[in-house]
Amino acid sequence: MNLGFLGSGRITLSIINGVLNSKVRVQKIFISYRNRNISKKLSKKFKKVVVLKDNQEIINKSNLVFLAITPIVGKKILPKLKFKSDQKIISFISTIKIDKIKKYTKNKKITRVIPLPFINMRKGPIIIFPKDKQIKKFFSNLGTVIEVKKENLSKGFWSTSSFMASFYNLLNTTSSWLTSKGVKKNEAEKYTKELFLALSEDAINKNKTSLKQLVVESQTPGGTNAYVLKELQKKKFYKLQIKVLNSIFKKF
Ligand SMILES: NC(=O)c1ccc[n+]([C@@H]2O[C@H](COP(=O)([O-])OP(=O)(O)OC[C@H]3O[C@@H](n4cnc5c(N)ncnc54)[C@H](OP(=O)(O)O)[C@@H]3O)[C@@H](O)[C@H]2O)c1
Repeated sequence: MNLGFLGSGRITLSIINGVLNSKVRVQKIFISYRNRNISKKLSKKFKKVVVLKDNQEIINKSNLVFLAITPIVGKKILPKLKFKSDQKIISFISTIKIDKIKKYTKNKKITRVIPLPFINMRKGPIIIFPKDKQIKKFFSNLGTVIEVKKENLSKGFWSTSSFMASFYNLLNTTSSWLTSKGVKKNEAEKYTKELFLALSEDAINKNKTSLKQLVVESQTPGGTNAYVLKELQKKKFYKLQIKVLNSIFKKF
């Protein structure tokens, strides 16, 4: 099987690293010349990666075509390209719906997928719409696949996946605060990363325990965890989180 990527940006870099370190069998991966640095880096690292200047040539040579371009570029270039009728197209474009992609590509075999950068470690959730056995099998090698039944549902997942920077900011604030109390920066960062990693791993391992229950189990009445939670709730920290989620939701 040959894969083709229109757009060699950050997500293409992560996916190709994930694919070529996984069990997925591929003969060749054809990628865009753009971005030049990333395409150069990928073709240098992997023999199977071939850089092509012409997007049409990528499509002609591939069985699966991945749209790893921004919405603006997609609207501009897709209507000018010719896709094969039996070719499956996987779109990572956040704000273009399937109907529009069908119109632009004149192809009916479209799947919308939400990958995340950790796909390079073959970790993290991957949202797929609509269901497709082949695409599900492919991405199951790269993370935890969640298939959604309605296209509109993926909007919620796009919204929650927009919490990456603010999540890291939470870690950064925690670590910087520790530093302000006299802890060395590298120790503070190490501690913070390990703390949040352990919390996430614990939640995954306790797969029968709901998140709500984890909130209960991780505090003792009158204890320090209970105090921090109550203070944040009183200051409307979580209400603000919902408010921001609602406003980002409107963008998808
Ligand atoms: N990054 C993520 O974690 C993530 C996750 C899920 C979905 N997505 C979606 O995936 C898409 C790509 O995201 P990204 O983060 O990888 O963006 P990005 O790093 O900006 O990559 C987009 C790439 O498209 C290239 N490009 C521009 N015009 C082109 C053309 N005419 N033909 C071929 N390639 C062209 C750009 O090259 P130049 O640099 O030379 O302009 C750039 O390398 C977006 O729609 C995004 O919403 C991203």
